[in-house]
Amino acid sequence: MEKEMIIVLDFGGQYNQLIARRVRECNVYCEVHPYTLPLEKIKEMNPKGIIFTGGPNSVYKEESPRCSKEIFDLGIPVLGICYGAQLMSYLLGGEVATAPVSEYGKTEVEVDTTSKLYEGVSPKTICWMSHTDYISKMPEGFRVTAHTPVCPIAGMENEEKGWYGIQAHPEVLHTQEGSKMLHNFVYSVCHCAGDWKMDAFVEKSIEEIRKKVGNGRALLALSGGVDSSVAGVLMAKAIGDQLTCVFVDHGLLRKNEGDEVEAVFGPNGPYKLNFVRVNAQQRFYDKLAGVTDPERKRKIIGEEFIRVFEEEAKKIGKVDYFVQGTIYPDVIESGLGKSAVIKSHHNVGGLPEHVDFKEIIEPLRMLFKDEVRRAGLELGIPENLVYRQPFPGPGLGVRIIGEVTAEKVRIVQDADAIYREEIAKAGIDRTLGQYFAALTNMRSVGCMGDVRTYDYAIALRAVLTSDFMTAESAELPWEVLGKVTSRIVNEVKGVNRVLYDCTGKPPATIEFE
Ligand code: XMP
Repeated sequence: MEKEMIIVLDFGGQYNQLIARRVRECNVYCEVHPYTLPLEKIKEMNPKGIIFTGGPNSVYKEESPRCSKEIFDLGIPVLGICYGAQLMSYLLGGEVATAPVSEYGKTEVEVDTTSKLYEGVSPKTICWMSHTDYISKMPEGFRVTAHTPVCPIAGMENEEKGWYGIQAHPEVLHTQEGSKMLHNFVYSVCHCAGDWKMDAFVEKSIEEIRKKVGNGRALLALSGGVDSSVAGVLMAKAIGDQLTCVFVDHGLLRKNEGDEVEAVFGPNGPYKLNFVRVNAQQRFYDKLAGVTDPERKRKIIGEEFIRVFEEEAKKIGKVDYFVQGTIYPDVIESGLGKSAVIKSHHNVGGLPEHVDFKEIIEPLRMLFKDEVRRAGLELGIPENLVYRQPFPGPGLGVRIIGEVTAEKVRIVQDADAIYREEIAKAGIDRTLGQYFAALTNMRSVGCMGDVRTYDYAIALRAVLTSDFMTAESAELPWEVLGKVTSRIVNEVKGVNRVLYDCTGKPPATIEFE
């Protein structure tokens, strides 16, 4: 796609994705690349600006990541953040030293608001600092634009060349005016026009998909999750019934979810695509009978999913393209060669090996999750689907501790539906990262209507998280918990106790198994 672009060169900072997201929030397209990206490639990409990320290293160490100095000869503005600023100084002949005092956390920084980078920013502004090294001497042609009591060069610039260094992290929300600084960089320094808009993306993608697929056939494994749904609708708008969506109902979906997916994508829905729903519930329950080990359960579900999918694909015959709902964070993680520890279990069972196709299409591979959602709304997908919370591939299989049976699925589905309904009624659904009911494997004595019961305990979980790698247990209002509890024990047969999970991640995980 021919569009203006900012490139983020990653030097190992933990916030590399955040920088790209913040830039895109300014309606400017931005890609993250490893710091080893060849100069030739950069020239070819013709970015309007380059941002160096932070990183844990010290520029003088032999093994520290460095880009070539010639990057400064390209005539492209550069913003160095933290380690990136120190590297800029080092490469251009300045000096970096270990500061007598490290700065960590929210820090008041005095900035020179005549600098383009700090236009409209308060002269004293709270920034997020995280460094031990600092720029002790600027390269020639630079001036100081920010300082703190312990960091005399917390900002520097060579305005004529378009080179800016900033010791703080403008990409994290703790830097109160960080978005403004990035906005200033892309607009006042790089002179971007701001052409990254979802409606344009959708239109352009549809055009490109049409061109690529021609008269060919495409196949999509639709899970009903946000990513595959948006990918499905985008493809459907582009190639209509040349797309077949296979939706495997493994019997581990939330209550009524199979029907909801069918209502949107099925023959009576608004999109004219070939929709195949496979009701494979019993097949999965049979395979899971007697299995209690969580990893075995995950594996069985993943493998069975692929088998069912392949069988259906065979019936369809040869397809040219296999469509996947991969999104940008996955691309960045795998592309930069980092271990994707948390993500590895996301891919339910990998790619089907026995489906004959010539190429994979990933229409969302350049989008962040919030952009996928915006694209979904642009495509007219109902809000309840677009803002759906993440749901694990193995579904309720990992929310039922121990053996999975049809009866246990029914219990957890009913309890979860009540929980979601009450959370929505209380108007707090969008404030929570993820929330669900799980079925513990514990039964206990209770008493209902003067009769002894010996029934299951349901556990409710709600977490606050933005990255899903760490999470805090949410403090739900007692009246909501009370209402949910009384409804579950009254309405869901087989449950006589409701517990709330107060554990964060770590030490727990978000899911139960
Ligand atoms: P955990 O439980 O690892 O969850 O803290 C983090 C996020 O990942 C989701 N999750 C999964 N997604 N297959 C998936 O597709 C899985 O096996 C799986 N396990 C957890 C979980 O819902 C949360 O959003």
